[in-house]
Amino acid sequence: MTKLKSRHILGISHLDREEISFILDTAESLKEILDRPIKKVPPLRGKTIVNLFFEPSTRTKLSFELAAKRLSADTVGISASTSSVVKGETLIDTARNIEAMRPDIIVMRHSMSGAPHLLARYIDSAIINAGDGTNEHPSQALLDLMSVKEHFGRIEGLNITIIGDIAHSRVAHSDILAFSKMGAKVTVCGPATMMPPGIETLGCHALYDLRQAVRDADVVMALRIQKERQGMALFPSEREYARVFGLDTSIFSVIKESCVIMHPGPINRGVEMSPEVADSSRAIILDQVTNGVAVRMALFTLLLTDSREE
Ligand code: CP
Repeated sequence: MTKLKSRHILGISHLDREEISFILDTAESLKEILDRPIKKVPPLRGKTIVNLFFEPSTRTKLSFELAAKRLSADTVGISASTSSVVKGETLIDTARNIEAMRPDIIVMRHSMSGAPHLLARYIDSAIINAGDGTNEHPSQALLDLMSVKEHFGRIEGLNITIIGDIAHSRVAHSDILAFSKMGAKVTVCGPATMMPPGIETLGCHALYDLRQAVRDADVVMALRIQKERQGMALFPSEREYARVFGLDTSIFSVIKESCVIMHPGPINRGVEMSPEVADSSRAIILDQVTNGVAVRMALFTLLLTDSREE
């Protein structure tokens, strides 16, 4: 594999297993740059990347920006509240105007599922989906794959359990697709009100009992409750959710000794995970964040250098 098939990264659903392996191999080789005293290499000198974030972000926005800077690309960022969207400009007009300034890549986060796919139909720049509504968050899934592969040396054959708001989580959707494509067995677990009908068609199976779901897991990933995407209360209270589906130290007597804990962030400490679990030696949550920079460096490199099929 030497090339990506698409000039956009819109979702894991658009990437095949070979492309995912290619991205992970590239990210692994680029990661050492992050540990150099001078963390900057020249391959993307003269390239321009626009970060267009219409929803809040800490990890994704900063790591796309750092990834670009590490590769010597120029970056500019704009958020919804400081853009002319607040004056009534449409998303397509905003994107067309940004494109008129000749960026090479537009990285976009939007609350509407499908927003980056829509832009990709109207503009010529490469688009990277940095999270669209409840649909996909492909770079998160890639960094999750990288973190698991780094820890276990493989993905194939591992048991991955994802807990929480499966219905509203774009991370869950991308991770289910990504881990199952790479040969892992994915189990999802959460309240029935947060489990979309037909979730098994994505390549996972659903359980509703936390202890049963984590018993054989190699990886337990907790998700944030996506309150901003829920039209109504889907569980009685946060305290009740934490009691039934939250990870506290009692989980350590159930999971395998080799099992690691992951979370895409941001964590609601005391809801989906207690501070003792989040800060434990089992957690590889900050490794996920570091790998996020490497994965995003790989995406920029593969989209902007001679690594894409025409
Ligand atoms: N994991 C993730 O998408 O975090 P941010 O919302 O902070 O970018």
